[in-house]
Amino acid sequence: MDKFVINGPCTLRGAVEISGAKNAVLPLMAAALLTRGKSVIENVPNLRDVSTMMRLLGILGAEVEFEKGVITIDTTRLTSFEAPYDLVRTMRASIYVLGPLVAAHREARVSMPGGCAWGPRPIDLHLMALERLGAKITFEHGYINAAARRLKGAEVVFPISSVGATAQALMASVLAKGVTVLKNSALEPEIVELAKALRSAGAEIEGLGSSTMTVTGVETIDPFRYRVMPDRIEAGTFAAAAAATAGRVRITKCAPAHLGAVLDALKVCGAKIDIDEDNIDVQGPDRVEPVHVVTREYPGFPTDMQAQMMAVLCRAKGTSTVKDTIYPDRFTHVPELRRLAANIRLDGNLAVINGVRGLEGAPVMATDIRASSALIIGALMAKGRTEILRVYHIDRGYETIEKKLRKLGADIQRVSD
Ligand code: EPU
Repeated sequence: MDKFVINGPCTLRGAVEISGAKNAVLPLMAAALLTRGKSVIENVPNLRDVSTMMRLLGILGAEVEFEKGVITIDTTRLTSFEAPYDLVRTMRASIYVLGPLVAAHREARVSMPGGCAWGPRPIDLHLMALERLGAKITFEHGYINAAARRLKGAEVVFPISSVGATAQALMASVLAKGVTVLKNSALEPEIVELAKALRSAGAEIEGLGSSTMTVTGVETIDPFRYRVMPDRIEAGTFAAAAAATAGRVRITKCAPAHLGAVLDALKVCGAKIDIDEDNIDVQGPDRVEPVHVVTREYPGFPTDMQAQMMAVLCRAKGTSTVKDTIYPDRFTHVPELRRLAANIRLDGNLAVINGVRGLEGAPVMATDIRASSALIIGALMAKGRTEILRVYHIDRGYETIEKKLRKLGADIQRVSD
């Protein structure tokens, strides 16, 4: 298992290029199952989650190639409709194959995702949506079976906004007979991206970017070629790292329009931020001002950025709070940040952060993708040596983060145990 060794503190300076969006690529890869033939996705980051999805598509019989950021998925000869436990337990997004398989191949069998590091993360809304579209859902030996002759258009009302359930319903409904109306759909840019890619393949979808999407089912859609948008969470993470280290960083090839709430919070912290169409310039403050952050669905402050924001606030001039309303237990980074001498108290889904003058390096453990990047930010601020164990979590969601940080002046090494 690899670990990161970081010697701090440092001030990040320079430019960093943002990779394609993990959470847009994964549903797009699953969406290739709706088509028969070769789909091509460009600007794909080289991540562990991407290779897990490649392996899953391979098990289903697709021929998958990944070269220089371009994935080709040939679905001409699928041989299986089952996503096994071994893969699903390492990546929950494997559930995305359920809807496309049942829509295009009438049957699917996917291992039930278990709990995750920070709580239960149910999939009831994915199943509700597929049932509304006429799939018969049964459970057997830890697997979900879905079957349908042909899905039928229906009104699907999501009681809460869910990125995954919206993507699932959208993919399934494009091949359903008749009209589907998805109400209270998630507004996240990754959903708009999926809808655009499906439209480019011949799907009929209206209402992109709004909470009601209307899908008129078609008999088939074509393989697609699609260039995926930049990763807003990776860009936000570098912006947070720049702010935390009083750095001066230009974040390039990103989509600043997707980061409004994050950049606003960093501005309250005292960061100077300039944007143009695809770059963000961040100049971190000498001492961070406290801020109160509440995570919300897009366009609110993303739950995927709260850990990194909390790391920034560890050195604020006063008391800040971070409340997670999306995942109330997503705080596995808190005890690890405390090991770096942060002063954080947890009260349910509210973290109260009393800023300290400086953090201290220590050995810490990465527990999930975003918790890990928060620890990197903490280590960059901390005096002395920090070892971050279990960096495979980071590799799930950040492409060569240590190389990108080294280019910005960080003293960070990947060490194999
Ligand atoms: N929920 C349900 N039932 C469901 C689905 C969701 O109750 O069937 C609840 C969840 O428990 C949560 C809320 O709805 O409280 C929102 O969850 P959502 O379904 O939107 O999350 P997701 O689709 O499972 C995606 C991202 C996550 C990100 C969340 C929220 C992917 C592959 N994952 O998860 O990304 O945190 O949306 O924005 O797109 C990450 O990249 O580190 C990550 C965890």
